[in-house]
Amino acid sequence: MKSYFIRTFGCQMNKHDSERIAGLLESAGYVPACGPDVADVIVFNTCCVRETADERLYGQVSSLKALKTGGRPDVLIAVGGCVGQRDGEAVLARAAHVDVVFGTHNIHELPALLDAAESGRPSVSILEAGETFASDLPQVREKPWHAWVPVTVGCDNHCAYCIVPSVRGPERSRPMEDVVAEVTTLVADGVVEVTLLGQNVNSYGRDRYGKPRFSELLRAVADTGVSRLRFATSHPKDISDETIAAMADLPAVMPYLHLPVQHGSNDILKAMRRGYTREEYLLRVGKLRDAIPDVALSTDIIVGFPGETEADFAATLDLVERVAFDHAFTFIYSAREGTPAAALADTVPREVAQERFDRLAALVRNLSYASNTREVGSFRECLIGGASRRDSAVLGARTPHNRLVHLPLPTGESAAGLAGTTRLVRITAAHPWFLSGEFADDSR
Ligand code: SAH
Ligand code: SF4
Ligand code: F3S
Repeated sequence: MKSYFIRTFGCQMNKHDSERIAGLLESAGYVPACGPDVADVIVFNTCCVRETADERLYGQVSSLKALKTGGRPDVLIAVGGCVGQRDGEAVLARAAHVDVVFGTHNIHELPALLDAAESGRPSVSILEAGETFASDLPQVREKPWHAWVPVTVGCDNHCAYCIVPSVRGPERSRPMEDVVAEVTTLVADGVVEVTLLGQNVNSYGRDRYGKPRFSELLRAVADTGVSRLRFATSHPKDISDETIAAMADLPAVMPYLHLPVQHGSNDILKAMRRGYTREEYLLRVGKLRDAIPDVALSTDIIVGFPGETEADFAATLDLVERVAFDHAFTFIYSAREGTPAAALADTVPREVAQERFDRLAALVRNLSYASNTREVGSFRECLIGGASRRDSAVLGARTPHNRLVHLPLPTGESAAGLAGTTRLVRITAAHPWFLSGEFADDSR
């Protein structure tokens, strides 16, 4: 029996796609391998959102050349996802030992492409647009109790720095009844947490129904009885009062929102084509906190966008401090060929961008630590994820606000047995990026 190993880069949409790739390969008779060294097929599901993602991929792919020349000539290497979609045939020019290249719209073709590559010739297939949603394919969930459920694919925004619309295509929404039917099946299958996915979930339905219907979708999905409902990503220009109200009303919707701001300066937000001002962003945050006072907020921020002055950057620091984000993902801008920003001349020198990035990262760390510190002494219903990667005697769990908690594994219990269960936890200590806790006495 042939075995496969998948390495996934990039966003949650790619994680979801990888679960479908695994499902497809298993239906085609493959079995999972415990590592790339022993697999018959190695699949790279790739990201190209930043230059570093590209570099990592090509670095890892080229290191596999040794596998082929060192006694395993038959191993097949497949590159799919966003780099596959963008580079197509050109992947072979950069890494001649790759056997299969596929894109974001034709995951379903992978088993056939692998068969074709067995003859020793590389097979490349890229579709310009997709007809099927990957969700219609079989899946093997990484965690049996959690499911990613795409509600839209692609993106209709044109953020000046972003490659995603060109590798994922225009936004397409799934029919609401399909999403609800899928979640109903998942719940019956034991899934306790569902994350609805889209590049901009708030515009869900615009292409299909003529107007956004995300708040209705949230209510319909919550009606399935799923215990924990999350969603990503929310675009600040499109998050509606109705969605905020649905978040506040529905107990299943977790009190956490990822709301990427990208920048704090209006000039840069305009150059980025984000479609909102910092004032509008702050207004949305105010509305959210009025409706859900303890809501946890995270964001994405880009430093060093072309033309960014020290004053612009100071506006980012100021906004971050004002909102007091619980967490932020920070990135140094990298030009992506073919995006409008790649043509902008006034680039920020690398050292300047790095120095600003370090200042922002220090602020983010302090805010995250402060936010975690406020949790100490609280009791939270935590969803146990399983053993920590570093220490098998430690469990990782998530609070409703999406904070990571480390807990000692109680004697006599197994991490695998506890994974996917929800338990009351007392938070005992704060660290910058996680909390420590212990199982609370349920009779407290
Ligand atoms: N659809 C989501 C996120 C898409 S990509 C959204 O609209 O927010 C994830 C993050 O990568 C972005 O939020 C942005 O912060 C970052 N990013 C995207 N393109 C980038 C680039 N060219 N350079 C640096 N960071 C980038
Ligand atoms: Fe990229 Fe903007 Fe679309 Fe997000 S909303 S995927 S940043 S174009
Ligand atoms: Fe990356 Fe593609 Fe997602 S470029 S961020 S994996 S949509």
